[in-house]
Amino acid sequence: MLFKNACIENSPELKDIRVENGLFAEIAPSIAAKPGEETVDLGGKLVLPPFIESHVHLDSALTAGDPVWNMSGTLFEGIECWSLRKEKLTKADVKERVNRTVRMQAANGVQFVRTHVDVTDPKLTALEAMLELREELRDFVQLQIVAFPQEGILSFPNGKQLMQQAVRMGVDAVGAIPRFEFTREYSVESINFAMELAASCDKLVDVHCDEIDDEASRGLETVAARALEMQLFDRVTASHTTAMHSYNNAYVLRLMRLLKMSGINFVCNPLINTHLQGRADSYPKRRGVTRVKELTAAGCNVSFGHDDIFDPWYPLGNGNLRDVVFLGLHVCQMMGYEEIMNSYRFITTNAARTLHLGEGYGIETGRPGSFIVLDAKNYYDALNLNSPVLMNYRRGRLIAESSSAEKKALF
Ligand code: FE2
Repeated sequence: MLFKNACIENSPELKDIRVENGLFAEIAPSIAAKPGEETVDLGGKLVLPPFIESHVHLDSALTAGDPVWNMSGTLFEGIECWSLRKEKLTKADVKERVNRTVRMQAANGVQFVRTHVDVTDPKLTALEAMLELREELRDFVQLQIVAFPQEGILSFPNGKQLMQQAVRMGVDAVGAIPRFEFTREYSVESINFAMELAASCDKLVDVHCDEIDDEASRGLETVAARALEMQLFDRVTASHTTAMHSYNNAYVLRLMRLLKMSGINFVCNPLINTHLQGRADSYPKRRGVTRVKELTAAGCNVSFGHDDIFDPWYPLGNGNLRDVVFLGLHVCQMMGYEEIMNSYRFITTNAARTLHLGEGYGIETGRPGSFIVLDAKNYYDALNLNSPVLMNYRRGRLIAESSSAEKKALF
């Protein structure tokens, strides 16, 4: 199959793309169609590698208002709402909602999803469902599953055993939530436990790290130090790191050296953290988002995630990562021309590094023929005009499509 006149990743020079047997067979300025070859003229539209959701909680997705709405919009009322919803969690329920969510994501150009799954459940219901879904959906989306101890590892009954069980069941990554543990000692021990568990069975690590406005929350330095000492480097990801927003600058200066040496990845979740952080502040209210601009300038790898989609903690969202990037650029003050133009990298190439997709990702000859086509001439316009993803191809197969969103005034 031949795609003519593609603007690949904002390149001013248009190229043709041939996909054969599910792989990119040829990418060149002009490729002649073979006799009978199906050809699509993209007319200069933007072609990107598929979008990557690098941080989401699919097990709670699409539960907002069921059985009750979060009226205050706070984290704490969200936890109360979730505890009511959790009572009726079944495997069939999780699978039905995840199937719907993944289709919404695919329609918005997503093909790779790292989902955290709550394993502070003695029955591990959601995890069992997600592991089955990983296989059932693999032709359409690659699910990467993180064992996420929502209520702590040391601070939840049998927390360590549940994490070990989750690893035996086949998760892709080990999580932790140090700022939620009862004590600082538990917090450090939970990080050590997670890193050693991951290292012992060759898993990735993704820690819910310092998701709080408390500047004394310093799980990040422990995560980075262990990643360096254990030589896990970029196999480790620190998600959220919102306390970094509140750290004093002298401390950050010292911390940055360690962060760079450690090579760890960062995931920022602008929608949820601007919504939930700063709630103990009067005025001024902190934005509660980690230092994306400074981390990026220091050469650290940062991606963006949706985190929650229409659930007790975040009542909006349809799986569209455009909204995540749009808000992220505002709150991180990254609105320079180049910053806007290149911001697709937060949900493509940077996220691919975090997920360790390697040669399974990217528009290059010999790699899987997976890409998306947006109704725009570059990403600046796509972001600004909220352009739809017209086509979503996975290994040469069209898995989602939408129509042009042209709007016309009638005068
Ligand atoms: Fe999260």
